[in-house]
Amino acid sequence: MTDEHFRELLDFFDLSWRGYRKVRKGVKKRIIRHMGECGVKSMREYLNLLRENPRIREQCKILLTVSISRFFRDKMLWEVLEKKILPDIMKNESPVNVWSAGCACGEEVYTFKIIWEQLNKKSNIYSQLYLLATDINPEYIEKAKAGCYGLSSLKEVPNEIENKYFEQCKSSLLFKVKDHLKTDIVWKVRDILDTPPEREFHLIFLRNNLLTYYGDKIKEKALEDILRVLKPGGYIIKGAHEKIQVSDTRLVKTEFHPHIYQKTTP
Ligand SMILES: C[S@@+](CC[C@H](N)C(=O)[O-])C[C@H]1O[C@@H](n2cnc3c(N)ncnc32)[C@H](O)[C@@H]1O
Repeated sequence: MTDEHFRELLDFFDLSWRGYRKVRKGVKKRIIRHMGECGVKSMREYLNLLRENPRIREQCKILLTVSISRFFRDKMLWEVLEKKILPDIMKNESPVNVWSAGCACGEEVYTFKIIWEQLNKKSNIYSQLYLLATDINPEYIEKAKAGCYGLSSLKEVPNEIENKYFEQCKSSLLFKVKDHLKTDIVWKVRDILDTPPEREFHLIFLRNNLLTYYGDKIKEKALEDILRVLKPGGYIIKGAHEKIQVSDTRLVKTEFHPHIYQKTTP
């Protein structure tokens, strides 16, 4: 498949050519396989099929997702959450509502659970947690529920945390998160571009998905919707290489970390 054809496909879904630059090769392979399964030989035929057939369109959309993630991705951020942001929220709020939007296979969600547990043990503040984890790809959500990972996903996990929260699976080289980390997590297959969840959140993780892989029009509208369910004073977290562009002044960069933004209070 030529770059030109791949670009036509991305344009069809309003996805970003630049956003896919590092993963193009692998994603192209999946699409070529899908085209073969659908019995089409050219991008023109494929695009026509996508226009006509919602089921095939849905399959293609899922094939365009990228699950790259790891525990404690952007390490400093987790320190700031543990030391500054969360203690502050927990002091005043219970339950604390957290949404991992585009959670892939759960690495971000379980990382959050680890720091939440550590914090609860250290401090004498007790707060309940509502942790919503959503992704458009049902396979990723199933993998997240199982909680088994290869060593490369754990490369940023400190040893003492690995020993405490993971166990090696007997018959493979995989590491499994311990069962107690799986409590209080609501996993849902859900498209970030659909109407957002009905509750308001104190903390939203929006890292390495919408802001990287989507085109400007889709991004702006979806971000507006997501911000509507962020509580005034709540925090939204972007990925390390992403930009948040909001048309109004509802978001301010926090002094604690360049990727954490706070919604201004009315
Ligand atoms: C690269 S992973 C990022 C995972 C995690 N947030 C992180 O930063 O490590 C991107 C995830 O976003 C999901 N995603 C992409 N488009 C989505 C959409 N429209 N709705 C929900 N999830 C989506 C993908 O399926 C994938 O699991």
